[in-house]
Amino acid sequence: MSKVNILKLLTKKQQHEKFAVVTCYDASFARLVQKAGIDAILVGDSLGMVLQGRDSTLPVTIDDMAYHTACVTRGCDQPLIISDMPFGSYNSAQQCADNAATLMRAGAHMVKIEGGGWLAESITRLNQAGIPVCGHLGLTPQSVNVLGGYRVQGRDNDQAKAILADALSLEAAGAAMLVLECVPRKLAAEITNSLKIPVIGIGAGSNTDAQVLVLHDLLGITEKTARFVRNFADGATSVEDALKRYNTAVADGSFPADEHSFD
Ligand code: KIV
Ligand code: NA
Repeated sequence: MSKVNILKLLTKKQQHEKFAVVTCYDASFARLVQKAGIDAILVGDSLGMVLQGRDSTLPVTIDDMAYHTACVTRGCDQPLIISDMPFGSYNSAQQCADNAATLMRAGAHMVKIEGGGWLAESITRLNQAGIPVCGHLGLTPQSVNVLGGYRVQGRDNDQAKAILADALSLEAAGAAMLVLECVPRKLAAEITNSLKIPVIGIGAGSNTDAQVLVLHDLLGITEKTARFVRNFADGATSVEDALKRYNTAVADGSFPADEHSFD
């Protein structure tokens, strides 16, 4: 595999070639992710839960994200590295630009922020500063206290329309990719078809351009997993083999299956 960049992933969307993304937080796993041929790594603020043992992503800091981003970069040199901007680190366009620069200096190739149209100014500012942005809509875990829990979003018509409108405004503002988390598969398909940028789904059905899973979930070492997760360690001979099985299953469309999707 050669070095992955944003144009390679855009081409994959255009050619209807599905790709896998996995979260990763350290050098050892990053090396295995690369060996498995996976195109992109998300240094997710899910590290607050899976590494730090917290019950939400809210306590994660920009220093935590920069530290784990730097760890990941030492283990691989091919996957595209997307780093999450944590809760409270992008309340204004200026604060967003400053904190995003910290993650880029740590080795990220792109940053991810949660939210809709209100982020347009921040996205423009980041692009001007040379920082590509991945959006994140649907279930946005940093807003768990507003949403009232970790639940499927966009099931009613008005909500679905609002998510589609937000997706279009993020793309118009210059977002390079979009994560859609826990939305009905029909809505995810509609958004994927409406956007030119790659859409990465998690709990969003099989019609998105790509899939992302939390590393610890796909390795079957999380205590309680969501319906949209498959344990790829089941039957695998090693961690690398589990990652390869995940990569292959996304590419050939066998993951996610109906049982991993929401209506
Ligand atoms: O932090 C994370 O792991 C994420 C993915 C679940 C999309 O944002
Ligand atoms: Na995240």
